[in-house]
Amino acid sequence: MMNLLSIEQSSSTELNALIDLAIEMKANREKHQTQPLAGQTWAIIFTKASTRTRVSFEVGVRELGGHVMFLSKNDIQLGRGEPIKDTARVLGRMVHGAIIRTFAQQDVEDFARFSKIPTINALTDEEHPCQILADLLTIKEKLGTWNGKRIAFIGDGDNNMSRSWMWAAKYLGFELVVSAPESCLPSQEFMNRLDTDRVTLTTDPVEAARGSHVINTDVWLSMGQEGQDEKEALFGAYQINSELLRHCADQFIVLHCLPAYRGKEITEEILEEHADTIFQQAENRLHAQKAVLATLVSE
Ligand code: CP
Ligand code: NVA
Repeated sequence: MMNLLSIEQSSSTELNALIDLAIEMKANREKHQTQPLAGQTWAIIFTKASTRTRVSFEVGVRELGGHVMFLSKNDIQLGRGEPIKDTARVLGRMVHGAIIRTFAQQDVEDFARFSKIPTINALTDEEHPCQILADLLTIKEKLGTWNGKRIAFIGDGDNNMSRSWMWAAKYLGFELVVSAPESCLPSQEFMNRLDTDRVTLTTDPVEAARGSHVINTDVWLSMGQEGQDEKEALFGAYQINSELLRHCADQFIVLHCLPAYRGKEITEEILEEHADTIFQQAENRLHAQKAVLATLVSE
């Protein structure tokens, strides 16, 4: 594995190996660990806000022996219009790897191509692969496996989180139901590309929740969509609340990638009731991403 650019471009072998390594790294965090990033400097280039991703990568790189350099868009010439391919060719000659959060997926792809150094997608408008690895790890810890589980994604069915989930369902073979208002379901073009019978779509959140072992949600308006009140107004029936959760399987967990907007996609009551799982999920960003870093430098 040279890069982690998307779940779409990964495979079931790679995903399973990353989760297994994350479990091992989590178990051994307090013991002496090897330092595969010793002597390396990694750049973290973010053009969107972040708490979890930034902190988990900064800590993760350091725990693996490397140094990090955080570069926000406004600190570097990228923010003044220097092309990504030029930024990539400069950084590729100086740092050993890059972790990028931005809008266009193409920018991350171009960075990887022109820099020729290991590149990690830390969220684009298209996908959020690092989050999905942490989510899968959490499911394994809480439910033992995703095999045979019914997973529901209720919220914006056409955003980075839902798309990464759909690719994970295809490659790992679990059942995923995506529920969203009609205009926020994935496009036919996307579904044709996905080409799997593991993912079903519905506008009915109750149908999605029924019998599910995992209920997963995300903000209704992703970064860059602030102020789209008309879109947000479509989601009233898709809130994760106690009424909706009555339809789940006997044993179920609630996942939220965070940040959460209480009273919108999830109620305060449900978030706090499932806080153990949700903050374990947040912690798992660190372990999953350490597995990604160690894997990329081992190639
Ligand atoms: N879930 C997630 O990516 O959180 P941040 O935006 O805080 O990094
Ligand atoms: N879909 C959200 C995820 C945040 C971690 C966003 O892009 O803002």
